[in-house]
Amino acid sequence: MLRIGVIGLGNIGKVHVNNLRGGLVEGAELVAVAEQATGALDEFKDSGIACFTDATEMIQSGLVDAALIALPTFLHAPLGIQALEAGLHVMMEKPLACHKAEAERILAARQRDDQVIALMMNQRTNPCYAKLKQWLDEGAIGTLQRVSWIMTNWFRPEIYFHSSAWRATWAGDGGGVLMNQCPHNLDVLQWLVGMPERIRGYCSFGKYHDLDVEDEATAYLEYPNGVTGLFAASTGEAPGVNRLEIIGDKGTLKTDGNKAILMRCSESVAEFSKSTDEMFGMPEITEEVFEPTEAVNQHAIILTNFSKAINEGETLITPAEEGIKSLELAGAMIYSTWTDSTVELPLDSAAYEARIKQAAAESTPRTNLKTAAKVDMSKSYR
Ligand SMILES: NC(=O)c1ccc[n+]([C@@H]2O[C@H](COP(=O)([O-])OP(=O)(O)OC[C@H]3O[C@@H](n4cnc5c(N)ncnc54)[C@H](O)[C@@H]3O)[C@@H](O)[C@H]2O)c1
Repeated sequence: MLRIGVIGLGNIGKVHVNNLRGGLVEGAELVAVAEQATGALDEFKDSGIACFTDATEMIQSGLVDAALIALPTFLHAPLGIQALEAGLHVMMEKPLACHKAEAERILAARQRDDQVIALMMNQRTNPCYAKLKQWLDEGAIGTLQRVSWIMTNWFRPEIYFHSSAWRATWAGDGGGVLMNQCPHNLDVLQWLVGMPERIRGYCSFGKYHDLDVEDEATAYLEYPNGVTGLFAASTGEAPGVNRLEIIGDKGTLKTDGNKAILMRCSESVAEFSKSTDEMFGMPEITEEVFEPTEAVNQHAIILTNFSKAINEGETLITPAEEGIKSLELAGAMIYSTWTDSTVELPLDSAAYEARIKQAAAESTPRTNLKTAAKVDMSKSYR
């Protein structure tokens, strides 16, 4: 049995704790929790689960084989590095860190080859995204031409941000919608179609909320072989849409996260275009629809995979190394806006770190926190 300690018992930490205590994570047990807000530890008294107010003590306790870091994003790097240096396996909450340079430091803290470092990019297990991945791997749409993701159904009201000092701040979260909500989408995007070579981003900072960071972003992405991409995100639209479309020479894939569609062309569009004598002709299209019938527990699946990777050598669904890529996409969109220029990838992590530190230094710390926010996590994932 893998002995897991969860660090941070906020919104998402509680979800992981409930999955572990509910027996939903195969091969793993919750043996310790660490939380600085002592009230959150009350429910663990007399449970046999060790309680720590100091996360370092838990890491050093010898009680845990693995740490799950469910802390505010700015604490991912310091505590993740501590846990890795102590030789623990680590599951990091998303995003891996506030920016690419921090993420590189986390990965460099690995002590042994068999030390497993995973990232909670749970949306890879959304059945619709997984189906798109399967279709792409099968070559169902032929050569990639274009990708477009309009991801604006991340609406968040003002209290979401103002209930904590860290969310949607440069120092605490590394940004806004691209860093808190969209890491999932940016991760799935690069998982499906790979990384672009350059990005031109247009971010709006505090357009809909009282924030210094971006709450709306639109970006043009250029991939190898002339493939083009569009990514748009917002936390200021209601209800917003989730519209992912991937276009290839032999078909189109579409999903809204609830249903996935494959529109297959009868032949290559390029070949058809050259050979047809019909002025308004088009290849014939057949449609396949995939509609999952049951909801999946995405977080429990990723945690079970983490435990099996350690216990049985199972391949990780979401290795932490992959977390650099979504940070790079978000960072490039923000950096492009700051520099009013197209950004070539890979992103210069040192230059970006210097610029984000400047943004953090220039921003006003959030005061007058509204701590009475009502929380229903089932509405958080959309
Ligand atoms: N994968 C997902 O679906 C998902 C969903 C929500 C949040 N997240 C990510 O999880 C992280 C946490 O988000 P959240 O919404 O749960 O935040 P939160 O603010 O609700 O919870 C963080 C908790 O950490 C505690 N904490 C802070 N510093 C600590 C320290 N030094 N030692 C011990 N405890 C400490 C806080 O008291 C708080 O209870 C963020 O990085 C966020 O992006 C992921």
